[in-house]
This record gives sequence, C-alpha cells and structure tokens, in this order.
Amino acid sequence: MASSTAKNGEAADKVGRHCRRFWWVWLIAFCLLVLIIMIIVVYAILPAVGQKELDKTVLNLHSFTILDPSPTSLLLSLNSTITGAGGIAAHSRLDPMEVIFFLENHKPIQPFMSLQLPGIKGGSSVPVITTNVTTAITSVPALTEFSASLLASETLRVAIRGRTTLRVGKLRTKVNYNEAVTIKGFNRLDGMEIEEYTLLNRQADGSNLAGKVLIPNPTVFEIQMGDVHINMSLNGQALGNGTIPGLQIRPGNHTYDFRARIQSTALAPLVTAMGSGKPVVLDVRGNGTDINGVSIPWLAGPLSSLDVKVPLKIRG
Ligand SMILES: *[C@@H]1O[C@H](CO)[C@@H](O)[C@H](O)[C@H]1NC(C)=O
Ligand SMILES: *[C@@H]1O[C@H](CO)[C@@H](O)[C@H](O)[C@H]1NC(C)=O
Ligand SMILES: *[C@@H]1O[C@H](CO)[C@@H](O)[C@H](O)[C@H]1NC(C)=O
Ligand SMILES: *[C@@H]1O[C@H](CO)[C@@H](O)[C@H](O)[C@H]1NC(C)=O
Ligand SMILES: *[C@@H]1O[C@H](CO)[C@@H](O)[C@H](O)[C@H]1NC(C)=O
Ligand SMILES: *[C@@H]1O[C@H](CO)[C@@H](O)[C@H](O)[C@H]1NC(C)=O
Repeated sequence: MASSTAKNGEAADKVGRHCRRFWWVWLIAFCLLVLIIMIIVVYAILPAVGQKELDKTVLNLHSFTILDPSPTSLLLSLNSTITGAGGIAAHSRLDPMEVIFFLENHKPIQPFMSLQLPGIKGGSSVPVITTNVTTAITSVPALTEFSASLLASETLRVAIRGRTTLRVGKLRTKVNYNEAVTIKGFNRLDGMEIEEYTLLNRQADGSNLAGKVLIPNPTVFEIQMGDVHINMSLNGQALGNGTIPGLQIRPGNHTYDFRARIQSTALAPLVTAMGSGKPVVLDVRGNGTDINGVSIPWLAGPLSSLDVKVPLKIRG
C-alpha cells in the first residue's frame, strides 16, 4: 500500500516535472487547437452559416424606376428592403456588389440588367435604395424579352444574383446573393380605357382627335417610354395613328393625354359607332416609341406585338 502511494506520488512528480519542462509543448498544442477552431469557424462554419442565413432573406421591391431609356443605356432607381435576416446575418455587413437580373425560367441565364448595390448592413428590415444609376444595356434581346414578359404577364419571376463579401466583426467570407421574386406585370394593359375624347378640326400635326387615356399599372415599375406611337383600328378597319407624347407610366391608375389622326375615310364609321349607343372598342397596337427622335427598340418591339382592346368610356 505504502509503496504504491509512494509510487503514485513519484509518478505525479514525474508528470509535474514533465509538464514544467515541456510547458511550451502544451502551449503550442493549445495554440494549435485554437488555430484549428478558428480555421474551422472561418473556413467552414462562417461561410456555410453566413450563406444559409443570407439565403433565408427576402427582397421586397417597393419601386423600380427606369428613366432616360436609350438603345444602349438607362437610368435605374430601386427602392427595396431586405427582410428575414436572422442569426449571423442580422449582425453582419455585405460589401457593395453588382447584381444581375434575369428571367428565372430563361435557360441558359441571360441577364437583362445589372445594378451596383451599396453596402448593406444587417438588421431585421434593411432598406436597399439606389437612385439614378446609369446602367449599360448588355443584351438588347434579353431586355426586350424581359419587357415583353413584364408587359404581357400578370406575374413573372425575376432572379437576382451577385457575389460579395460578408463581414462579421473582423471575420469575413465570400457569399453568393441569390434571390428570386415574383413581381406583378402589366397584364396586357388590361383595363386601358379612353376616358375623354374630342374630335377636332385637323391640327398642324395632322391630328383630329384628342383626349385622355387611362393606363392601369398594377406593377411597382415606373417607366419613361417617350413618345409612344400607336396604330388604331375598329372592327378590323384601320382608323389611323396616334401618339401618347412623353409617356412616363407611373404605378396606379392614371390618365395620360393622347392625340390621333383619324384618316378621312374612317371618320364617318367612327362617328356612327360613337353615336350608336353601343360600346366602341378600339384595337390599339404600338408602332414604335422614341425619345427626342431616338427609337427605343426594347420597348417598341414588345408594344407592337401586343394587341390591346381599348373601349371608349360610355358618356353618361
Ligand atoms: C421607399 O419605399 C418606402 C415604402 O414604400 C417609402 O416609405 C420610402 O419613402 C421610399 N424611399 C425612397 C427614397 O423613395
Ligand atoms: C434622376 O434623374 C432624372 C432624369 O434625369 C431627374 O429628373 C431626377 O431629378 C433625378 N433624381 C435625383 C434624385 O437625382
Ligand atoms: C408606323 O411606324 C412606321 C415606321 O416608323 C411608319 O412608317 C408608319 O407610318 C407608322 N404607321 C402609322 C399608321 O403611324
Ligand atoms: C401618324 O403617322 C404619320 C406618318 O408616320 C406621322 O407623321 C404623324 O405624326 C402620326 N400622327 C400621330 C398623331 O401620331
Ligand atoms: C385600378 O383600377 C382597377 C380596375 O378598376 C382596380 O381593380 C384597381 O384596384 C385600381 N388600382 C388602383 C391602384 O387604384
Ligand atoms: C401600323 O400601321 C402601318 C400602316 O398602316 C403599318 O405599316 C405598320 O406595320 C403597323 N404597325 C404595326 C405594329 O402593326
């Protein structure tokens, strides 16, 4: 018994001596362990958790404004909030990034727009706002496809993608921003109606009809379209052409001035129809849009492929 205790004491001493002598080995081992944990956090846990939390966020679009459209560029403004950031994402920051927009169901991916976003701080509801960012149009076919889809659909899915750095305190990791949102489209301009109209003596520009047209816009988009030219017909007979000058279509139900040139041969049938007491529904089709004489193909194309039924408001 006694000898065994002595032995144990001796062993403990031995261990103690060993530790004192080789304390630096233990220190190094400890430091290595801390380093390994840090490496796991920084290279494995942070990227995975950061990405997962970022993927949970939701982008809410409040407004999307397209001004100064030209064949090659446009001016973009975006008002949105990111919600749903939990855990690490609520306490992190995202560096400024460039995001691309594309129609979600378009394979392969074909971006129609890119936008430089500012840095984003974490939080439960984070505004992401940019104003008047000049954006080069990278693909006219892609943008044309998007505007056609926006014009003709009740809803559409738009995907947004970017890559940036997520920072938590001094730690950082690269993350992908991947989001797809369902947005409302113009639904083929359903509900468009001529609210007021007056037949005039022929004006200097050839027009002989003027009035106001209601264009419902259930979307969050405000789009400067320029002078929108239209072809009009009634029961398959060409009536003439018209213009909605300087159209900047705003969200909501708004009326816009228009003027038209009804060809002489169509005047009598139109006046008869107006006086018949029956609903008069014009067939309207876009025939080009331009700003200061410069044609905007990615707006004109979709407008010309849409046949819109536009009733004249019945006068009470
Ligand atoms: C962004 O939209 C929100 C919600 O509609 C609105 O309250 C806010 O004033 C807008 N901000 C800007 C800068 O337009
Ligand atoms: C954005 O640009 C439009 C058109 O150039 C201009 O009318 C508007 O004042 C600008 N808005 C801001 C906030 O700079
Ligand atoms: C439609 O646009 C074409 C090309 O700009 C023009 O030549 C034609 O006169 C327009 N048609 C009508 C009815 O305005
Ligand atoms: C109708 O088309 C002609 C020829 O393209 C054009 O000169 C005229 O301005 C157009 N009228 C209206 C009201 O758009
Ligand atoms: C616009 O008018 C349509 C049809 O009358 C209506 O359903 C819609 O609620 C209106 N939208 C707004 C923003 O007033
Ligand atoms: C508009 O009418 C003109 C002349 O009637 C025609 O040449 C043109 O193709 C029409 N545009 C569309 C988009 O139908």
